[in-house]
Amino acid sequence: MQPFESLESGVRYYCRRWPALFATASGSTITDEAGVSYLDFFAGAGALSYGHNNPVLVEVAIEHLRAGKVLHSLDTFTEDKRRFLHAMHDLILEPRSLDMVVQTVGPTGATAVEAALTLAQRVTGKRAVLGYDGGYHGMSYRAASISASMAGRETVSHLGAFRALPFVEHMVDHDLELLDQALSSTIDGEQVGAVILEPTQGEGGARPFDPAYLGAVRALASVHDVVVIADEVQAGVGRTGPFFAFEGSALDPDIICVSKSISGLGLPMAVNLVRRSLDRWTPGEFTGTFRGNNLAFATSATMLETYWSDAEQEKATEDRGVIVRSHLSAIAEEFSGGSWAVRGNGMLSGLEVSSGDLADAICDAAFADQLIVETCGAGGATIKVLAPIVIDLDDLHDGLGRLHRAVATVTSGS
Ligand SMILES: Cc1ncc(COP(=O)(O)O)c(C=O)c1O
Repeated sequence: MQPFESLESGVRYYCRRWPALFATASGSTITDEAGVSYLDFFAGAGALSYGHNNPVLVEVAIEHLRAGKVLHSLDTFTEDKRRFLHAMHDLILEPRSLDMVVQTVGPTGATAVEAALTLAQRVTGKRAVLGYDGGYHGMSYRAASISASMAGRETVSHLGAFRALPFVEHMVDHDLELLDQALSSTIDGEQVGAVILEPTQGEGGARPFDPAYLGAVRALASVHDVVVIADEVQAGVGRTGPFFAFEGSALDPDIICVSKSISGLGLPMAVNLVRRSLDRWTPGEFTGTFRGNNLAFATSATMLETYWSDAEQEKATEDRGVIVRSHLSAIAEEFSGGSWAVRGNGMLSGLEVSSGDLADAICDAAFADQLIVETCGAGGATIKVLAPIVIDLDDLHDGLGRLHRAVATVTSGS
């Protein structure tokens, strides 16, 4: 497939999983140049929770460009950033009693994580970081160094003072002892200043933490003067039902990293929400050229106004998640006698099969049936269902049917 094979770096990955040349996209569907349409249960790795080319947001973007509005603004004041900040405050922060300020950062999740770690160190004077087995926080040097698992792929080795605690699905007393001890211990001679976790792990296998444990993290981190960072890059912005995946627990994070779907349209954008009392940055201390994507501010504000002015989307996402997991459970029952595990919440769900090779084969068979779906989790053995949260029910059932067929095809041939 020229010119990709001759000119593009060997690091390219998803094109090997889905060797089509994509041209157009709409909602839950992406279509190749030959006109073949695929149902997209990967949704831009979670950046397209509101679907491809969401028509409401496309109109906002077109109008923004037609009107000659500012596109790039660093962190100067603009009309669209004002509208975004109002929407974030009125629709997300205030209703959840979060007294936080918004820090715009360079446009990737990893940058948000870097900023969060830097601020935590700045505030506490302590450099070591605690994370979790299965955590994934991005590919910048430091973010990769605190990512304990790369779903079975090669990873950069751990750097600096970092320790991964075991993931906690169902809390027992020992988990609390381990956490308490880790928060107060030193790692490579450094004291712990931050604990970072994804309330529901994405790359780690669509795994929600025990909400009781999240509350314990908050309580113990406060005792030890440790900053709590919630990485909501993948699970946030409504992916698990509520706007933040930690809702329903007492995690009460100090810093929340948000990216991926925050623009609503898949545009590059990331922000950190920072507890007001911890916002100790001095002007320009953490900077970046692409912190002012006004097209993304405009679509984000409209996304928040459209989907987060009431509780309807949250409910719709939860209902769809129930459908997904009941299908996955039926597949697990039929093809493994129930030994495969089903995990997740909202529209971040996974089916852990017996091996990474089997999961790969199922994804390949799904692609042959025009369904895009990817693996995650330990050994890459979990098939992750990450369809847009706004997917219509016919498409959802259609895609789940294709997944069922893919499993049947692969298991009957083995
Ligand atoms: C939870 C989480 N944090 C951070 C990142 C990194 O985001 P980005 O790829 O935009 O740097 C990801 C990406 O998948 C993620 O899932």
